[in-house]
Amino acid sequence: MELSFPSRFVWGAATASYQIEGGWDEGGKGESIWDRFSHTPGHVANGETGDVACDHYHRWRDDVALMSELGLKAYRFSVAWPRILPAGRGAVNPGGIDFYSRLVDALLDAGIVPFATLYHWDLPQALQDDGGWPARMIVDAFCQYAATASKALGDRVRHWITVNEPWVSAFVGYRDGRHAPGHTDLGEALAAAHHLLLSHGHGVKVIRENCPEAQVGIALNLTPQEPASPSPADRIESTWSDGQINRWFLDPLAGRGYPQDVIEGFGKPMDFVQAGDMAAIAEPVDFLGVNYYTRSIARSSAIPEADNEPPTITRGAELTEMGWEVYPEGLFNLLRRLHFDYAFPAIYVTENGAAFADQVGPDGQVDDPDRLSYLRRHLEMVKRAIHLGAPVKGYFVWALLDNFEWGFGFSKRFGVVYVDFTTQQRIPKTSARWYRQVILENGSALGA
Ligand code: FCB
Repeated sequence: MELSFPSRFVWGAATASYQIEGGWDEGGKGESIWDRFSHTPGHVANGETGDVACDHYHRWRDDVALMSELGLKAYRFSVAWPRILPAGRGAVNPGGIDFYSRLVDALLDAGIVPFATLYHWDLPQALQDDGGWPARMIVDAFCQYAATASKALGDRVRHWITVNEPWVSAFVGYRDGRHAPGHTDLGEALAAAHHLLLSHGHGVKVIRENCPEAQVGIALNLTPQEPASPSPADRIESTWSDGQINRWFLDPLAGRGYPQDVIEGFGKPMDFVQAGDMAAIAEPVDFLGVNYYTRSIARSSAIPEADNEPPTITRGAELTEMGWEVYPEGLFNLLRRLHFDYAFPAIYVTENGAAFADQVGPDGQVDDPDRLSYLRRHLEMVKRAIHLGAPVKGYFVWALLDNFEWGFGFSKRFGVVYVDFTTQQRIPKTSARWYRQVILENGSALGA
């Protein structure tokens, strides 16, 4: 078929602990910042919480069986830090370790390669009470966590992602206040971003000590920016947005330090950076994880609209339920840029997908042609990038299951599998069956 990929290409689906597990206070788990945030009225649409979510904490065996039926070769999940270290550091909760250990065994038995993410936003509340990501103590705590997880699972888990989307954690959580812990302080956000990167860098080493064969990386949300017009104002705006969303993370990881134009743009003290930090952050990774959903079009508000040139680039008409433009070319452009400008040794698309208002039809099936088309067109762009020489080794659809979409609660369905949140019934959507076929026809198996 048209979508032919290299034979060792890794075909997967992704989830995150808080978004699917539920069991929020079971099995000795500690409270996370998302438990606290969602339990506080006014933060999540319809007052929803991840208390139960997809009930994966109890249904994980069935969910692994489902992954197997869908022909998945790999599964990216995240470990809930407070499940294995309820207070964030100190005492380990053996029940939490057992949960992930059994999950990993079940995946391996089903021939599915586990990709474990250590931090997908559910920080132990006890660590937030001690200052959270803006406080430097977090780096030691993360290292203890990385050591605990990699000692317990590293004999079987060979693919690790330290941190998911540090931009979102730092800026949406500590500057914009839309995510836990709901703070609105740029200074805190910058310190948080630095400690997330530093935790990543030290974490890479810790994981390798416990699991010498590990492939370790970080997953970034990368959103290409395009100036709305060729006017100087829009071009400056685009460079700035690219700087604070993309380069602020890519450059330090690539050993280039924080971009000077963005340091100046933020205009805040960088006194949280200590000697040796930038080298630690630049610890070479085995791969970069790319989470791509859409592009942004940058329009300056620094000058009156009437003084600016008319936009020559506008969003396309095709939008997802998130209001995000469907723009597959952006993924190709991004992968090309990463290949030529940054040269990471390998790239995985660790998230790509779309929310649509799926419904169960009279026949009990869920037909989602828009998602299928989104996935197909983005996979074509991945293939183009591979042909260009970009070292893209795998692709994870976001998400395996409809789930708790953070501040939007359960109102946004990203799954290739539909979840009825009342009965917990899972119904693979048309896109899941299509994806299964793509995987089958590409006959991939992950080697070492
Ligand atoms: C990403 C997150 C993921 C999910 C998708 C839609 O930013 O990593 O948890 O919410 O967006």
